[in-house]
Amino acid sequence: MIKAVRGTRDLLPPETALWNFVESTARQVFRQYNFQEIRTPIFEETQLFARSVGEETDIVSKEMYTWEDRSRAASEKGQSLTLRPENTAGVVRAYIEHKLWERPGVQKLYYMGPQFRRERPQKGRYRQFYQIGAEAIGPPSAGSESPLRDAEILEMLATLLDRLGIRNWTLELNSVGSASDRPRYFQALKKALDTVVAKMCADCQRRAVTNPLRVFDCKVPEDQPVIDKLPRISDYLDDASRAHFEEVQEILKSVGVPFVINSRLVRGLDYYTRTAFEFTHGALGAQNAILGGGRYDGLSEALGGPKAPGIGFAIGEDRLVMALEASAEKTSTPPDVYIAPMTGMNREAARLARELRSQDLIVELGDESFRIKKSLETARKLGARFAAIVGENEVKTGQFALKNLQNGEQISVPRNELAQSIQSKR
Ligand code: HAM
Repeated sequence: MIKAVRGTRDLLPPETALWNFVESTARQVFRQYNFQEIRTPIFEETQLFARSVGEETDIVSKEMYTWEDRSRAASEKGQSLTLRPENTAGVVRAYIEHKLWERPGVQKLYYMGPQFRRERPQKGRYRQFYQIGAEAIGPPSAGSESPLRDAEILEMLATLLDRLGIRNWTLELNSVGSASDRPRYFQALKKALDTVVAKMCADCQRRAVTNPLRVFDCKVPEDQPVIDKLPRISDYLDDASRAHFEEVQEILKSVGVPFVINSRLVRGLDYYTRTAFEFTHGALGAQNAILGGGRYDGLSEALGGPKAPGIGFAIGEDRLVMALEASAEKTSTPPDVYIAPMTGMNREAARLARELRSQDLIVELGDESFRIKKSLETARKLGARFAAIVGENEVKTGQFALKNLQNGEQISVPRNELAQSIQSKR
């Protein structure tokens, strides 16, 4: 038997109804904050991720699905391609490629779709997973650096989680400093690492040389007490970075979005500057980050674009749905009515189904070969609220037997009032 590949999975009904509920709620909320959808390709040139997410990150160094795409003609060059492990890089590439800075204001773009990382699969961690994300990016003159942008995005996320009915989330906030804060901090961090790095894991020893901030991504338990004593970036912010971060916090307080400061939070991608954040949820176990994001003020320039500070986030939809299941209100909608045709009545039943569906009802259609008893049993199992019986007599008189499957009551209803009778009991 051929099975789904390790780390991938099929999403089946009724769970897919939850996914749809999440996605449609997100679309509504994003529209209210004036975000619009962008769709970028699922694969990109490998270089794009290496240059944005960073060579030394776990994502780029260990987890990407990369292949050499051979040329198909002498005129074509072979190239290294990668299934996207995240979507910020693709959005910023598109921003540059389509000169989106020529459009008015800050570009506020959202996306939904699969991402791919070759991580060790476990609960809440998959190799094909789904993100719902958004980015606000634009020239500084459009206000893209304003702390109001950061706070607006965080407040939007709080609104979305609340609307989805997800409680008990925690917003963890940090500032990872601007490009001008980094050299001073790296100097201090490297100095501190020099004295302890020999006791750390092999990955950390390498990171200490190539990209010391990545030491904070280490998950090795023995290294944690050492990491806890390393200098924190938050102590190395200059006045401008500090003021920016304080203003983000003040706006959050003024709109009533609770947060905690986590000065160890650096996020696992290299492009972040200044505000960085994660929302965690208690019911999720080890993989408790429902979403993460932050500012990436230098990313556009790193990819050859103009100065275009930005901030964004990505929600792990798999984890969000898990959190919803944990706080479970089920949202799958059963059929309004099950149409049960008597012998020889399939064509009439199809006509009636078409009529009722055109009036916005969810209709399931049985088959004339079923006996009435089997039809009603099937209708009940599907959770249908009503069954309508289609026999010769019904069609001739235009009066249909409508059975309420919740209380067993059966009434006779004229054809043109069927939809209304069913709707009135919704
Ligand atoms: P990230 O923290 O790598 O950030 O991923 C965001 C979220 O995606 C995580 O918090 C988690 O919920 C989910 N996620 C990541 N890996 C997996 C996995 N293997 N299985 C299931 N869920 C997963 C980014 O991707 C950034 N692009 C976010 C961003 C947008 N920053 C600025 N703009």
